[in-house]
Amino acid sequence: MIKIAPSLLAADYKKLGAEVERVSDGGADYLHLDIMDGAFVPNISFGADVIKSLRGASGMIFDTHLMIYDPMRYVAKFADAGSDIITIHYESCNDQKAVLKKIRELGKKAGISIKPDTPAFVLEPLIDYVDLILVMTVEPGFGGQKFIGAMTEKIVSVRAMIDAADHNIELEVDGGINNVTIAEAAAAGADVFVAGTSVFGAADAEKAIADLRAAALGAKK
Ligand code: DX5
Ligand code: ZN
Repeated sequence: MIKIAPSLLAADYKKLGAEVERVSDGGADYLHLDIMDGAFVPNISFGADVIKSLRGASGMIFDTHLMIYDPMRYVAKFADAGSDIITIHYESCNDQKAVLKKIRELGKKAGISIKPDTPAFVLEPLIDYVDLILVMTVEPGFGGQKFIGAMTEKIVSVRAMIDAADHNIELEVDGGINNVTIAEAAAAGADVFVAGTSVFGAADAEKAIADLRAAALGAKK
């Protein structure tokens, strides 16, 4: 199944509630929430209080992407704020297993993400502890970057890993997703597509989401 996850990072922050409604009404599957600490990545976004406030106004599935060091310190906070999925970065801590276990104990889906330079094989020992794998297709930190084409090989490897697993794991991609790159990522085996600029930057979000979905579906055939 194809899922489109608009990233709030590209929304108009002076009217956040309306922006969330725009993509929710437009048929988005998840709302992707990028949390940046200014240390793990060279940018600062927003925190759990923003998620909490949006939670009160939206029934969407909240897909939280933590780009912060030592995420164990904050997973409970992001769970309480109303995240449904919490994804941590492989590179952000030493004991990923412990954090992933904690996320599940909090009743949330647990995800692991790898940066472009991190190889897929590091995920092998974590497979039993994850519900989602996020392959970054840009260097994390900023929206509006160009999709790194070389990541499609990694998506293929992760797809094989997931297909060999004995439970359901979603394969998400994030960064530079547009009507062209979504087809490449879908053909390689991704099923959840984060899209910031290409959805929030469009005047008609509903059309942008429908076009992305159609392009991904076309590539799966
Ligand atoms: C980058 C974030 C992305 C970003 C994607 O660190 O993880 O979610 O918002 O933005 P676009 O779709 O514009 O590349
Ligand atoms: Zn993201």
